[in-house]
Amino acid sequence: MIVCVCHGVPCKRIRSVILDGAHSVDAVGEACGAGTDCGACREVIEDLIEESVPAVARGRSRLPMLMTG
Ligand code: FES
Repeated sequence: MIVCVCHGVPCKRIRSVILDGAHSVDAVGEACGAGTDCGACREVIEDLIEESVPAVARGRSRLPMLMTG
C-alpha cells in the first residue's frame, strides 16, 4: 500500500527505514522522501513509527522516574 502518494513510497519502504533507525517523521523523510511534500501522510508515518519503535527508543517514555537518589 502506498503511504506517501507524493513520492510513491509504500508502507514496506517506510517500515524498512524505521527499522534502519529513522525514529521520527523527519528522519523517515530524509531516508526515503516520504512526508516531505504536502504532508498528508505524516500522521500515518508517525503511527508506523509508534507501532514499530518502543517509546523509550523514541525518547518519549511516559514512565515516571522511578530511580531517584
Ligand atoms: S502524501 Fe506524503 S508528502 Fe504528500
